[in-house]
Amino acid sequence: MAKKEQKQATALSALLQENRKFKPSVDFTKQANVRDSAIFETAAKDPESFWAGFAEKLQWDRKWDKVLDWQHPHAKWFVGGKLNACVNCVDRHVQNGMRNKAAIIWEGEPGEQRTLTYWDLYREVNKFGNALRSLGITKGDRVAIYMPMIPELVIAMLACARIGAIHSVVFGGFSAEALKDRINDAQAKLLITADGGFRRGQLIPLKHDADYALRETPCIENVVIVKRGDFPLRIKEGRDHWWHRLMQEAKSYCEPESMDAEDILYILYTSGTTGKPKGIVHTTGGYLTGTYATTNWVFDLKPSDVFWCTADIGWVTGHSYIVYGPLANGATQVMYEGAPDWPDRDRFWQLVEKYGVTIFYTAPTAIRAFMKWGHEWPSKYDLASLRLLGTVGEPINPEAWMWYHEHIGLGSCPIVDTWWQTETGMIMVTPLPGLTETTPGSATKPFPGVNADVVDEQGNSVPVGGGYLAIKSPWPAMLRGIYGDAERYVQQYWSKWDGVYFTSDGAKRDENGNIWVLGRVDDVLNIAGHRIGTMEVESALVDHECVAESAVVGVDDELKGQAITAFVTLKEGHDADKKLEDRLREHVAAKIGAVAKPKEIIFSANLPKTRSGKIMRRLLRDIAAGDVLGDTTTLADPDVVTKLKKHYEEQYGV
Ligand code: PRX
Repeated sequence: MAKKEQKQATALSALLQENRKFKPSVDFTKQANVRDSAIFETAAKDPESFWAGFAEKLQWDRKWDKVLDWQHPHAKWFVGGKLNACVNCVDRHVQNGMRNKAAIIWEGEPGEQRTLTYWDLYREVNKFGNALRSLGITKGDRVAIYMPMIPELVIAMLACARIGAIHSVVFGGFSAEALKDRINDAQAKLLITADGGFRRGQLIPLKHDADYALRETPCIENVVIVKRGDFPLRIKEGRDHWWHRLMQEAKSYCEPESMDAEDILYILYTSGTTGKPKGIVHTTGGYLTGTYATTNWVFDLKPSDVFWCTADIGWVTGHSYIVYGPLANGATQVMYEGAPDWPDRDRFWQLVEKYGVTIFYTAPTAIRAFMKWGHEWPSKYDLASLRLLGTVGEPINPEAWMWYHEHIGLGSCPIVDTWWQTETGMIMVTPLPGLTETTPGSATKPFPGVNADVVDEQGNSVPVGGGYLAIKSPWPAMLRGIYGDAERYVQQYWSKWDGVYFTSDGAKRDENGNIWVLGRVDDVLNIAGHRIGTMEVESALVDHECVAESAVVGVDDELKGQAITAFVTLKEGHDADKKLEDRLREHVAAKIGAVAKPKEIIFSANLPKTRSGKIMRRLLRDIAAGDVLGDTTTLADPDVVTKLKKHYEEQYGV
């Protein structure tokens, strides 16, 4: 057996040996939103009625004529229906007696606190909707958002939804370059940003960074700036506007736009293997139905809960499980601006105790960091308010699951390991906490009404064993396309098997029918739960004046799941040294963002490639993992690369 496969087989069997099981407690099940396992069968028999049942709980201006129109790979959900996402997330609760219920309990990293009730949120989104209209934004216009985790970010998104503008949120940790590309791809007319935000005690000067992007974004007509602190910045008269000034002048009621169920709600960029980031398109009715339903069932959300999803809104997790899902359910949530280890490693647990958080949703990478810091940090706090825990973003290793269970859940909270993607819009494979027996490391079963399956290369279902994770029927929150690239949508997701969605994830199913997601089968990296294309990092490296060529691969990393190792070939006349290594790291951070900084840089005389010119990533991955060469400095010798390549070709027949 080839070495790589051997490694994978060990990984699989190691997972298989995991046979600890956790049944929901009788008390949890008694109070759970979903208690009857018959729902799986009912939903599978008639998924359209199942989803329509949730859609009926939303507020529609006009009811749909047809639940689903599926001309694969193009789906339309709730055809002919009209609704507004902002009205469903805000107005509806104000009208239904929840005016003074806390919607968002926010804490800034330096420690400020703000609580916005649903009525506060209502007032703010109305005024900001009018502010946007006063700047000429109308239905269908794209609005880019580049902000820290402050309530104005949620207000900005909902205000866009209210007036029918399409928001495109760009993660505040991304660089000016990344912002520029995303603004131009979406042809955004307006940018909403802030003077800055706080991260690990440092000021992140967002507007200052955005100014670099704005030099090359001719489509942007106006910029709105939230004043978060005292960050130095330049104002360009006529183009730049302070948020608070606009709000002073804005009228208090903004008529919501009645949107078609299939009108675009937002675009969110995500990485793919090749080419530029993809603008994933989500529409209104189906997306809201899917996020509403999954928030309610997966998190067992009740009106009395205090929900905290620690993700940044710049990622899909924040879109679906801070903004649309929880707010459509009328939830009370905690929102925190900063880092978990600021000023100390107990910040999260302090917040859980302080606000009485009942449901906590975070990423495995964070859990691994908590583990590393030690359980003395959470043990200083009273975490008894917690009743449910969740994870998302990457596979969770059983040790981390057990640590989470014992030290955060105090042995009594169900854990929902939720698998989904930017493209799926909503949680797809997950336990239902009142019903599912969980096993550490497995996301268990598809959500009712979701036809996810483990299939082989030909697309045949694999009853027990490994294969690909695929989705065989449309679901309401599914992506509707890639913005401006209809062809790539078909190619990327629907061309491997006829009418079946390709997730790019490897998975296996065990004897109990539980699904284990094993990670991506393409070259996309997953660093601390952030999906990053190899191509983006490589382009950033090659952009440096000293670099001729580069290839990056992911290597296992205890803390981040994966870390980046970059192979770099320098241009003639440049020497590899530690200084250059640091400069290259900084260069990547400036071009894409700190999250994409390579952990290791290996200078190589040339890169091993196949005859068709494809970089032999498998070889590079083995080198990076230390499986092939102990001492990577020898890669500076061109003969070594040639020999390695030859040996590899013989071994793998590539
Ligand atoms: O590889 C899977 C991994 O994250 C990918 C999706 O990344 P993104 O679109 O950025 O969305 C992240 C948040 C939904 C998936 O293709 N992934 C996500 N959740 C899990 C996971 N892998 C294993 N288990 C999970 N629970």
